[in-house]
Amino acid sequence: MERVFSGIQPTGTLHLGNYFGALKKWVELQETCGSVLYSIVDLHSITLPQDPKILHRNILEVTACLLACGINPQKSILFQQSKVSQHAELAWVLGCMTTMARLGHLPQFKEKSASVKDIPLGIFVYPVLQSADILVYKATKVPVGEDQLQHLQLAQHLAKLFNSKYGKLFPHPKALINDDCTARLRSLRDPTKKMSKSEPDPKSRIDLTDSEEVILEKVKKAVTDFESAVTWDPKNRPGVSNLIAIHCGMTGKTPEEIVQDAQGLDTGKYKLVVADAINKVLQPIREETMRLLKDPPFLEQILEDGSMKASSIAEDTWESVRKLVGLSS
Ligand code: TYM
Repeated sequence: MERVFSGIQPTGTLHLGNYFGALKKWVELQETCGSVLYSIVDLHSITLPQDPKILHRNILEVTACLLACGINPQKSILFQQSKVSQHAELAWVLGCMTTMARLGHLPQFKEKSASVKDIPLGIFVYPVLQSADILVYKATKVPVGEDQLQHLQLAQHLAKLFNSKYGKLFPHPKALINDDCTARLRSLRDPTKKMSKSEPDPKSRIDLTDSEEVILEKVKKAVTDFESAVTWDPKNRPGVSNLIAIHCGMTGKTPEEIVQDAQGLDTGKYKLVVADAINKVLQPIREETMRLLKDPPFLEQILEDGSMKASSIAEDTWESVRKLVGLSS
């Protein structure tokens, strides 16, 4: 049976990178796949310090934003990771099978730990918990942005290792990554980096709830280069190419079509076109998010219902794991 699983951290407002790298596909998959789970991975988010009050607010904001983007709780199980204890339990078993060398080589660990003085253990074992998230639901398809590929490879490795050591239990979790230019959107301030929630400068990203004025301001300030023509050249002109990639996501056009349409515009004028296209797509999402946020008990209830449904699947897998590993008879 095909089963979709994916997760998102509640570390801040969702942005265009999340939308194109993952959320658009999440919404499509709930229409075509019978069993779909999406998790707000709060345990992952505390691998770096969080203010408890802000974290709880962020969990509800992410829930509202996912619903506003089109996640339908009648079609997808939307839930909070920490409410399903089997994620952490399976992570322990998988952690006992993972070597420190393998985790130390993962690029995201190297990146994150480079900016932290005393590295928390949680950052190191983060990918093991991510593998447990996927395997505890025996997921077969995992829609993610390009930056998650190495983490997915660890989950595939651990599924195979577990099956060969203890007996076949986990299917192969396949990464679903966009094959177009939106698989990795870049920071508007430094297009050599990815667009990220954790980047301190809010001008580096477009949040899904940004107002029309803020979108315009951020796009106008986006770093490009000294050439004024609009051309597609991600390697040599990452700034303007990132705007074209965003524009492709917004319109469904290819980079070539966008460049053709933009003939005669300089990058300054082109930015106004991009900002307008972004606002057209984000306006309904922004308005619906704001509306939903006025009703926190409704959002809490969605997560509660989702967590109950997710738990019943996770409990079954965990019981099988306990038997196969010899923790129970
Ligand atoms: P997170 O919260 O950083 O991002 C959520 C999703 O958005 C994608 N994404 C991007 N795609 C394109 N361009 C970008 N600039 C960009 N930034 C983010 C991410 O690839 C992701 O799909 N470790 C995960 C959360 C997680 C998870 C899981 C995902 C935990 N357990 C199990 C899948 C399966 C993360 O930090 O995503």
